[in-house]
Amino acid sequence: MQLKDPVLFRKLCFVDGRWHRAQERFSVKDPTTRDTLGEVVNCDETLLDQAVQAAHVAQPLWRNLAAPKRARFLRKWGDLILENKQDLATIIVREQGKPLAEALAEVVYASSFVYWFADEALRAYGDVIPSPSSTRRSFVLKQPVGVVAAITPWNFPSAMITRKCAPALAAGCTVVLKPAEQTPFSALALAFLAQKAGFPKGVINVITSNNPGIIGAKLVAHELVNKITFTGSTQVGKIIMKGAAKTLKRVSLELGGNAPFIVFEDADLDLAAEGAMACKFRNNGQTCISANRFYIHASVHDAFVEKLIEKVKRLTVGDGLKEGMTQGPLINQAGFEKVEIHIADAVAKGATVLLGGKQHAAGGTFFEPTIITKVTDTMLMTQEETFGPVIGIQSFETEDDVIAHANATPYGLAAYFYSRDFARIWRVAEALECGMVGVNESRISEASAPFGGTKQSGIGREGSKHGLDAFLEIKHVSMGIA
Ligand code: SIN
Repeated sequence: MQLKDPVLFRKLCFVDGRWHRAQERFSVKDPTTRDTLGEVVNCDETLLDQAVQAAHVAQPLWRNLAAPKRARFLRKWGDLILENKQDLATIIVREQGKPLAEALAEVVYASSFVYWFADEALRAYGDVIPSPSSTRRSFVLKQPVGVVAAITPWNFPSAMITRKCAPALAAGCTVVLKPAEQTPFSALALAFLAQKAGFPKGVINVITSNNPGIIGAKLVAHELVNKITFTGSTQVGKIIMKGAAKTLKRVSLELGGNAPFIVFEDADLDLAAEGAMACKFRNNGQTCISANRFYIHASVHDAFVEKLIEKVKRLTVGDGLKEGMTQGPLINQAGFEKVEIHIADAVAKGATVLLGGKQHAAGGTFFEPTIITKVTDTMLMTQEETFGPVIGIQSFETEDDVIAHANATPYGLAAYFYSRDFARIWRVAEALECGMVGVNESRISEASAPFGGTKQSGIGREGSKHGLDAFLEIKHVSMGIA
């Protein structure tokens, strides 16, 4: 991998302010070339325990540091992330596959959480409560929850780390980070920059492993870990929640989605088609808030599909470091096969493939951007998130009907709709069962806004002022003054 600063490509894990070797290592594949990108340490239970102990020991020191000082470390980290954005983006392209422009945008997005929470660190306000007695005074303090284990996904190898670690650190917590086994290099580069920013030893620790089930379970069970923050599948989220119940650990869970994308008859169709492109093909559809079920009003269905086909045809598939590419590969063979299975299932049940539908000529896990119509509720692609570059379209007749369809899922992460009718906009935004709604807009993620789901899409919110609360405990202090 060609980096301006090759030292950012790190293969050891980071525990207690030091880079640790281990006998056992695992190799990480570049999804574009299918070659081995490098080998990283496969942390065992001993190293995991050292990381948790280090975070535990560092906790009182970090917690007791004045908030503006913690904020200064975070700002310095944010500056270093931006100074090294080209290298960090290159690492993302190589280990995750997204095109360089998207990877650069992700690094900037990652830094935005660091800056946002550097400022929020200064605003962890408590309360003064008017007491029911004249001889007592009543206060609420907010205090860090303690040691946080952050378990992060491969689809945003940098941004999902800072979205968890920055608020934890801002709140005064220390962190043990376990990045996805597919994308450990971004995490290690971020840890190196955190070390450079001067965070005290033990405040941030990174353990890499290709045994996520075992290492995850140990973190969840560890007596010295106070909180688990996880982004990943609903299935794993449930396992974590069950495990956390044994020690009653706090959990924040950002889980799977199955976002509806609704185009009403009064919508601006050009805007809607643009929005569909942006939120379906970002990261090649491998985004939890990707639109997954497209509901288009019958009266505008054909016009909308025509516009979409024109746009999708312009997408370019290939190596993300090559100039002009818009779509990279899918992360691995399992992801590729899921897309194939969803398409085969839809076709067997009567859907029509209008565009794409198979492996791209680039081979490997590259997939053709795909448009399918005549999709129904019984098809797999309606029931689960496809996590790939596939638009599956149904048509609908009435507002009530489409809301019922949109809500007919156990998931409730994001939803999108396009309409120019002001009354309808309020009605539908309120009726959709989810944590985030895009109205005539497909960009819904930013550091200042709460990100998270309802139903089986998760518990808690990241980003925004609520993101800090996830790492704070509330303590009531009742003071007698008689
Ligand atoms: C995700 O896929 O969970 C992250 C998407 C985002 O932050 O926009």
